[in-house]
Amino acid sequence: MELTLKHLCLCFMVSVFFVSAQAQHIEKEINQLIDKMTLEEKVGMIHANSSFTSGGVERLGIPEMVSSDGPHGVRPEHGRDWVLDEGVDDAGTYLPTGLSLASTWNKRLGYQYGAVLGSEARYRGKDVILGPGVNIIRSPLNGRNFEYLSEDPYLTAQMAIGYIKGVQDQGIAACVKHYAANNEEIDRGTVDVRMSERALREIYLPAFKAAVEDANVYAVMGSYNKFRGQYATHHEYLVNKILKGEWGFKGLLMSDWGSVHDTKEALLFGTDLEMGTDLVLMYSSVSQTEANATEKLSSNLYDRFFLADTAIKMVRNGSIPVEVIDDKVRRILRVMYQTQMIDGKRNNGEYNTKEHQQLALKVAEESIVLLKNENQFLPLKKKEIKTIAVIGENASRENAMGGGSSQVKAKYEITPLAGLKNYLGDAVNITYTRGYKIERDITADAGLIAEAVEAAKNADAVVLVGGWTHGYDYSKWNDNAYDAEGTDKPDMILPFGQNELISEVLKANPNTVLVFIGGGPVEMHSWIANAKSIIQAWYPGMEGGNALAKIIFGEVNPSGKLPMTFPKKLEDSPAHKLGDFPGKNGVANYNEDIYVGYRYFDTQKIDPEFAFGHGLSYTNFSYKKLMVSELANNELKVSLKVKNTGKEDGAEIVQLYLHHQYHKEDRPEKELKAFDKIYLKAGEEKLVEFILPESSFQFFSTDANKWEMGSGNYNLLVGSSSRAIKLQRQILR
Ligand code: GLC
Repeated sequence: MELTLKHLCLCFMVSVFFVSAQAQHIEKEINQLIDKMTLEEKVGMIHANSSFTSGGVERLGIPEMVSSDGPHGVRPEHGRDWVLDEGVDDAGTYLPTGLSLASTWNKRLGYQYGAVLGSEARYRGKDVILGPGVNIIRSPLNGRNFEYLSEDPYLTAQMAIGYIKGVQDQGIAACVKHYAANNEEIDRGTVDVRMSERALREIYLPAFKAAVEDANVYAVMGSYNKFRGQYATHHEYLVNKILKGEWGFKGLLMSDWGSVHDTKEALLFGTDLEMGTDLVLMYSSVSQTEANATEKLSSNLYDRFFLADTAIKMVRNGSIPVEVIDDKVRRILRVMYQTQMIDGKRNNGEYNTKEHQQLALKVAEESIVLLKNENQFLPLKKKEIKTIAVIGENASRENAMGGGSSQVKAKYEITPLAGLKNYLGDAVNITYTRGYKIERDITADAGLIAEAVEAAKNADAVVLVGGWTHGYDYSKWNDNAYDAEGTDKPDMILPFGQNELISEVLKANPNTVLVFIGGGPVEMHSWIANAKSIIQAWYPGMEGGNALAKIIFGEVNPSGKLPMTFPKKLEDSPAHKLGDFPGKNGVANYNEDIYVGYRYFDTQKIDPEFAFGHGLSYTNFSYKKLMVSELANNELKVSLKVKNTGKEDGAEIVQLYLHHQYHKEDRPEKELKAFDKIYLKAGEEKLVEFILPESSFQFFSTDANKWEMGSGNYNLLVGSSSRAIKLQRQILR
């Protein structure tokens, strides 16, 4: 034993030495390259030279760096002019979006998801994939919630870590975004976000901190908005002090597309790579002739970037030391070395493989959330059904190209209707009626409702697919609606007259399962009492329809859980009740502070429609034997036994929350501090173990303006959702 331990320590020390020696060697090579570069060559690397590339230095073997959206698939190709290319091989794997991934609560799946994305990005010749999006879901209305992960910082962080490692193990830089506090779309380019230091540290930064410290993310994207009066993309506090200072981030911070506003601030407050200003210049009011006349700017659009000719001038006239430029180039070169762009030893990646598509299916299967299932209405029994009525335009609508920059040209996309046809074959007669039209400003269509009601009456079961949409015409950038970049939902009310349709169909045939596509909750109070079963499907990717059909008919036992609270009505949501959303007079005050999502609902004892962490299964699970023991360095070990007490195999997401009973500063009713997804055959029992590090018990003290250990009594709460606590134990810290 003695020998083995010594041997292991020796191996560890050698590997640490090797890694640091290698790192030192790379730093040396980077500095040698910088020493050989002219100022123009250096500056050419810190701004874009096309829509998605930034400059290299060919004579020194430094390639251009190629970035691409997006968080759930590699975006279609387009040239410098932002017009989609024709006839290129860019139809790829369309993964379920961020909210779906988070709804799996499966960290291992996060890694596999990132690996698929990284592999497809490599195949498509990219170096940086612009994801994951980890902005906290503060309001259910944010148009980009579908791309993000959760309202909870811990769940967001845990899912992002796996994703980033998966991407980067494929030789691709992940670019965690949007740093920071980009929690709305309307006015995203101008809104000035104000919040307490505690809210920043406890809610809005943890996922970014984990990306840097736990996942070693190579790139970070600054956000469009201001924060406490300064643009986030070049922000002395957020970037220099916290990201690069406290967290020691050594990678590159790139702007969002067109989020740089000032050369000096970008130079001094941390922007390492300016992207997308061509969009601003191409569509700005300043005409080319006027610009040329006033600043004798070169005709080249990219030389007119903030970190281009102007930066060169400022170094030349001595107002900016060249070392400022060197540090940016150094960070970019580090990413190039970490992704083997310099030595060229890169894997080729894979595209549209069966394995990639199977992973998309797996994520969809594990992400779909069974919200309600009265009297075990689901799963439907195939042999008991002769006719099934499928209703709703969302049952037949493809979503991949919607949503804005995260669009994907899917190799294929199985809609809910197609998935049901695939699953049922000729065994069951499937009717389809549109039910509602996805068109701007349209209300309930009596004809379509009548048609749907007739179909429902003549069916043994009904699958009504409603919800939101990415937009009306995906080819038009500014035609996005509801779940899309650049827009926020006006409210939580189902559009296109769906509430009327649902009420009528439920009356016509109570054997109806309601399925919702979309990036967030809808108000259900007008019909929920009459609904036997409700499923939240989010945007489930290219295999979504197959996953949905397998869940409805029981081939897959649903295991997804909500990563965000579903309020009964918008007014209950803290961002709207206490805070500003989307903001007033250019300012959004996050008055709800740390009380985001279930932190608010549980502290204020307001019942949501469906709680954070909620999701049903076709089986049941028992929790027992909660044990707690102290470990070294102030860690706590928590274990319990979970048993599948039903007849179906299934997966359970065991969640551990902490409630700090008494302390001098207010704390939320509960906070998620650990979770695990376990798979149990019918009757099987497993031991579940969590290790709570000391940081689990810390909070950011407003008084002391630093992290502090929260001493005193805690309730340790373990359950299947934030509102379904099965076991608890009082502990003293
Ligand atoms: C967009 C988005 C960002 C995206 C970038 C490039 O405006 O905010 O998420 O990666 O520009 O398309």
